[in-house]
Amino acid sequence: MTPSLLAIDQGTTSTRAMVFSTGAEVLARAQLELPQIFPAPGWVEHDPETIWAHTLKVCREALATPGVGRVAALGITNQRETTLVWDRATGRPVYHAIVWQDRRTAGLCEALSTPEAQALVAERTGLVLDPYFSASKIRWLLDTVPGVRERADRGELAFGTVDSFLLWRLTEGRVHATDATNAARTLLFDIRRQCWDEDLLALFDIPASLLPEVRDNAADFGTTYLFGEPIPITGMAGDQQAATVGQACVHPGMVKSTYGTGCFMVQNTGDTIVASRHRLLSTVCYRLDGRPTYALEGSIFIAGAAVQWLRDAVRLIDHAGQTEALARQVESTGGVYLVPAFTGLGAPYWDPLARGAITGLTRDSGIAHIVRAALESVCYQSRDLMAAMQADGVQAPASLRVDGGMVGNDWLMQFLADMLDVPVERPRISETTALGAAWLAGLGAGVFDSLETLSDSWQRAARFEPAMAAQRRDQLYGGWRDAVGRTLSR
Ligand code: G3P
Repeated sequence: MTPSLLAIDQGTTSTRAMVFSTGAEVLARAQLELPQIFPAPGWVEHDPETIWAHTLKVCREALATPGVGRVAALGITNQRETTLVWDRATGRPVYHAIVWQDRRTAGLCEALSTPEAQALVAERTGLVLDPYFSASKIRWLLDTVPGVRERADRGELAFGTVDSFLLWRLTEGRVHATDATNAARTLLFDIRRQCWDEDLLALFDIPASLLPEVRDNAADFGTTYLFGEPIPITGMAGDQQAATVGQACVHPGMVKSTYGTGCFMVQNTGDTIVASRHRLLSTVCYRLDGRPTYALEGSIFIAGAAVQWLRDAVRLIDHAGQTEALARQVESTGGVYLVPAFTGLGAPYWDPLARGAITGLTRDSGIAHIVRAALESVCYQSRDLMAAMQADGVQAPASLRVDGGMVGNDWLMQFLADMLDVPVERPRISETTALGAAWLAGLGAGVFDSLETLSDSWQRAARFEPAMAAQRRDQLYGGWRDAVGRTLSR
């Protein structure tokens, strides 16, 4: 029997384990929903022990599936930027995980945002000085949780994003490491020199003793003995970069967009770091054999989470699957726009204090209009990102490869193609994030020899061609820009 590959995909709203054959067939999957903790407005936390318990449970369940066979390697992929600090002796976190969406450090970021600091951050990290990234969250833990600063100064504590934390636990405290893509999201990592940056550590007042070692995406991350047979951990990447690999966007110019909790559009820019003039992020796409490939990324905080809000907060729907039929029930939203700035706005606005709005309501507006407006907001935000990419001088892609929980909605995919004026392609394997992690693990374990050969196995399941008249597209998008303008804090 040929060996199989296990992927752990620890995302914002769920934890999943998947086993793939080396031919990219799904052999097993198990998933658990992750409870969200909202201690104050704009704050979002996760319980690290729940993350860990769920990880173990889904792995055990997936590995127990008949037909899984011998697992040659394990790859980890994760919600990025989410910040944990734990005790090196006990492995116990000092606080909950502070989630990437959390805005509690908006004031701190504002206070640090001198023109010099902004320029330093942009130059070294390719990012912007925003609460989204890990550095200000680490600083908050150091300043706020009693004893943490002193324990950190004594070298007793370790920082990690979720990848590092899981690796630490999977290796029972033997390995404190991360990979270049996750490191690139901390605001502390120089993406040119590929190392932690002293000036950034000084800016955020963070001791270097907290930091993990940074490795390639396909590398030796140690071995786990927690599932019976020893399993080498040989792949690791942030979830959006893993999805970029799983979508086989391995050539410069290729773009993928993942529609999960948020939406992340990532374009492979090869060995070029594009210095965005339109507030996109330059980041590490992947690093193999010490050689980084870069990407331009647009990050939107709320995509599928807007549908969750319709379901859980305002209860306009009972389940996400209803949104497609509701959107089709009406010809248009009748001028209604929903700007889902629930946790501020990401690229290209970067306004942590913006808050959501529904505009253009009339006496005729009903549930279908609002639901459709929520779906359309995902497409307008995608257009914001693609417009910014093109304004940064990168060419319009031949197509956009999409994945994530929302892309099963055909109406949404057609509206997306219409709004972007670019064909949208849905892959056969929709779990591209887990697939990317499995592929990286396979590379690291020597099961495959290059990403390029792997990418030949990417297959398309559906393609949506743009069909909307340009005038209509521009008119709808103009309305969106107007609605966004009303939510900005400055
Ligand atoms: O940057 C945050 C991102 O990595 C989270 O992705 O899929 O867990 O919402 P997801």
